[in-house]
Amino acid sequence: MPADIGEVLIDEAALAERVGQLAQQISTDYQGCDLVLVAVLKGAVVFLADLMRRLTLPAEVEFVSASSYGAGTTSCGDVRISLPPDLALAGRHVLVVEDIVDTGRTLQALVSCLRAAGAASVRTCCLLDKPSRREVDFRADYVGFEIPDQFVVGYGLDFAGKHRGLPFVAVLRPDA
Ligand code: XMP
Ligand code: MG
Repeated sequence: MPADIGEVLIDEAALAERVGQLAQQISTDYQGCDLVLVAVLKGAVVFLADLMRRLTLPAEVEFVSASSYGAGTTSCGDVRISLPPDLALAGRHVLVVEDIVDTGRTLQALVSCLRAAGAASVRTCCLLDKPSRREVDFRADYVGFEIPDQFVVGYGLDFAGKHRGLPFVAVLRPDA
């Protein structure tokens, strides 16, 4: 175990079980729909890879980047969002796949961007949710796990670019 990793909050078995449940629910809810999964780079890639393989319906995949902490030009409120230039969403059903909701600002902005792009519907699926940190009125439609206000890494989530490949979700040691 890396020295800066503390308690394991969600182990591999619990992740696999919950991702399977989410995939089942999504497969039921979107039956017969033209579904596009829009994953938020980079943190959501591990979750996306597992989730999409458990879906029992065909779905296309697109990637966007969003950063709530970067300075510079903003295209959607105070969040910087980059959509693929050829993203064609008109009339299609979009499910945003994200690693974690914290203040809620990133997903709130991304959802309005995607609605403005003409999607028939836009919903969100987040592996983790820290409800105690919310600063805007946002609720994800599908949530894997609610967690306390602790910085977590693994299963796609990073600290300074590290630890995305850990197969579990763990707390970063506060002294890291
Ligand atoms: P919002 O806009 O909801 O931002 O405040 C969500 C983004 O914040 C990052 N984030 C974390 N990343 N461990 C991480 O690795 C965490 O505990 C954590 N909390 C928030 C993450 O990039 C997410 O997309
Ligand atoms: Mg992120």
